[in-house]
Amino acid sequence: MAEQTHADAVLETIATTRSIRRYRYEDVPSADLNKILWTATRAPSGTNRQPFRFLVLRNGPKAKQARRILGIAFRNGWQTKCSSEGWTIDTSTRGSTRRERMLQAMQQYVDEFERVPVVVLALYQRYRPIDAMEGASMYPACQNLMLAARALGYGACFSGWHRGVATELSLLFELPQDVEIALTITLGKPQGKHGPVRRRPIGDLVFEEGWEKSAPWVQDPPGTRFTGGGPPEARS
Ligand SMILES: Cc1cc2nc3c(=O)[nH]c(=O)nc-3n(C[C@H](O)[C@H](O)[C@H](O)COP(=O)(O)O)c2cc1C
Repeated sequence: MAEQTHADAVLETIATTRSIRRYRYEDVPSADLNKILWTATRAPSGTNRQPFRFLVLRNGPKAKQARRILGIAFRNGWQTKCSSEGWTIDTSTRGSTRRERMLQAMQQYVDEFERVPVVVLALYQRYRPIDAMEGASMYPACQNLMLAARALGYGACFSGWHRGVATELSLLFELPQDVEIALTITLGKPQGKHGPVRRRPIGDLVFEEGWEKSAPWVQDPPGTRFTGGGPPEARS
């Protein structure tokens, strides 16, 4: 077998950085947490303003309070999503389809939210009125966090289910008026393995010379896994 180059290893890390929602309930050592957050904070931003801040919740008294607040919000968020999509989840046996297993993982994620090893609130400090680029200088830092976590054998997941309790959390942590909670990111050692991400074929997403004009040089590498967009389909 051909030797894996450094570039191959980096690219494989990117292509296997999936959302991880099932964690081993063990602490993340501070040295690893430092590396992950250092990498996050090296991300690019418009004019290098670095409007991102990260509030880490481990086991401190306010962290415990915030986890309780977030746990309720996550369970409500997921319940609302299940009702609107008409999903029912049977957790008594391991799901036989990818869709069933995904729904079960989601259920476990929200049910056990308070036990997630580390929760990171990704904060955005606004420096101009809201505009269409809002968040664009925030998400590269969050993706850096995910990639660094993956590289060190951890897994992470983004979520927006803090929205209903953002005011409560802002008060708890005394966040300034110009600071928003952009994302909640959970982090820990995965219970299972990181598989490859599933996306659409590259030809659906990359064009040349015009909208939906295929680029003759694009091809997915062997073994690429695919999926359409949106929630998992009933048959998958
Ligand atoms: C902006 C953003 C918001 C997201 N919000 C949630 C969320 O509220 N709950 C959740 O479980 N996953 C959330 N995700 C994770 C996506 O569902 C996930 O990235 C997508 O389904 C692809 O799966 P993968 O990351 O495993 O490849 C979010 C991702 C992004 C980028």
